[in-house]
Amino acid sequence: MTCNYTGYGALDDTAMKSTTESKKTAHHDSTYLVLGGTGGIGTALCRRLASLGARLVVVARIAERLNTLANDLDALAYPLDATDFDGVDTCFSAATQHHGRIDGIVCCIGSLLLKPAHTTTEVEWVDTISANLTSAFAAVRSGARCMRKHGGSIVLISSAAARIGLANHEAIAAAKAGVVGLTLSAAATYAPRNIRVNCVAPGLVRTGLTASLTENESSCRASTALHALGRIGEPEDVASVIEWLLSPEQHWVTGQVIGVDGGLGTVRSR
Ligand SMILES: NC(=O)c1ccc[n+]([C@@H]2O[C@H](COP(=O)([O-])OP(=O)(O)OC[C@H]3O[C@@H](n4cnc5c(N)ncnc54)[C@H](OP(=O)(O)O)[C@@H]3O)[C@@H](O)[C@H]2O)c1
Repeated sequence: MTCNYTGYGALDDTAMKSTTESKKTAHHDSTYLVLGGTGGIGTALCRRLASLGARLVVVARIAERLNTLANDLDALAYPLDATDFDGVDTCFSAATQHHGRIDGIVCCIGSLLLKPAHTTTEVEWVDTISANLTSAFAAVRSGARCMRKHGGSIVLISSAAARIGLANHEAIAAAKAGVVGLTLSAAATYAPRNIRVNCVAPGLVRTGLTASLTENESSCRASTALHALGRIGEPEDVASVIEWLLSPEQHWVTGQVIGVDGGLGTVRSR
């Protein structure tokens, strides 16, 4: 597995200066590793962080999409299957070596399986756990290794489906509930190292992952009705909360599961 220095690493000093001469923000000069950075929520997050002066390392499997985004944001692209523990370790070490340190890690990797338990195959179950929980565990495992000296922030993504019983979500709900358990335990373990671990739990967000739901008028209407605030989410709704959790200004926030779900997980208004 090789590090693909398509973006940031390929710039000359002059170009680098011009990208870093933007207005100072809490994220200025911070380095963040975004796993699943080419997805709907991941891309919104990467664009937001880049606009705030952060340096980015973006990970996903499909190199073409990854390179396009990395070039656009002057980011470092690292093509990788993030369920591979050794691969994630190598990636995090390469990123640390390249940038000096990693200040935050976000795992935006996931999948969606809408099926009742009795029709779910073993392969579908294993794939769901792998995409949603194993990737998050790998991010925490390698993240703790590379941030244990100076601290940092890890943000994972659970789901409203881990909070409220939604029909036909058994496998994905189990995987996302695992992400909550992982968040809480890791927050306790790594608090003495000043590594904060939090997660967000979105409702239905309009991304490629959910196109089959959001682009079908009747399913979209039915899903929207479950969200008390009367609309489904947009990637930026979730990205803004993740950015808040990453910020060094939130240095007293850890072990939290923040619903970013229009009320889906907790509120019934009609
Ligand atoms: N959208 C929603 O309604 C919703 C609701 C609740 C929770 N969530 C959670 O929010 C997160 C982001 O969702 P999204 O809607 O933005 O998903 P998405 O658009 O499908 O993006 C998923 C990203 O993960 C990457 N990826 C998938 N498997 C990977 C693997 N094994 N290794 C490395 N990269 C991998 C994909 O790129 P490649 O395919 O190139 O690898 C892509 O960049 C996920 O955890 C999802 O479960 C989403």
